[in-house]
Amino acid sequence: MQFHEVLRRRRSIRAYKPDPVPGASLARIWEAVQLAPSACNRQPFQFLMLLAEEKKEAVYRCYGSEWLRQAPAIVVALGDREEAWKRLNGASVHPIDTAIAMEHLVLAATAEGLGTCWICAFDQEKLHRELGLKSKWEAVALTPLGFPAETPATPRGSKSVGELVRIL
Ligand SMILES: Cc1cc2nc3c(=O)[nH]c(=O)nc-3n(C[C@H](O)[C@H](O)[C@H](O)COP(=O)(O)O)c2cc1C
Repeated sequence: MQFHEVLRRRRSIRAYKPDPVPGASLARIWEAVQLAPSACNRQPFQFLMLLAEEKKEAVYRCYGSEWLRQAPAIVVALGDREEAWKRLNGASVHPIDTAIAMEHLVLAATAEGLGTCWICAFDQEKLHRELGLKSKWEAVALTPLGFPAETPATPRGSKSVGELVRIL
């Protein structure tokens, strides 16, 4: 798929088929994650791929949308607040680095004909407990991963370029 076609095709998918994600697709998705830029190249992130039903149920307890349960896999993007580069004011950039790598995953999945949906409206502290994460990790975002069982009909509703870009 051409790059701009991938960008146009990517939508938030909220219905999934149960079919597993092919191994070859996964390999290309993880390579896309490897290629993500990060501040000082610290790569302060890790992606948990949850396939086990009890792990997926643990995530569902933190984000109770039924469609999350349909996907054959859920990916949780973790940021490492200790390893990440810090801004001059001391703020860690791990959410930025992790989000970039996550979007690489999302676009690579789209190119494979797979569906994803960025999810941030989950109970972060509860997920931390459910997955037994060390304190340095922040669960920045998660997404179901699987073949779409819907084609979103509603238009994306993008703002105009004039609203999004200012030339000074
Ligand atoms: C940082 C971020 C957080 C999001 N969190 C959620 C979420 O918790 N639940 C959800 O259903 N969609 C979530 N979304 C998906 C957005 O609602 C969606 O991207 C937006 O409406 C545009 O639609 P599209 O992705 O189909 O283009 C999130 C997207 C982003 C980028």
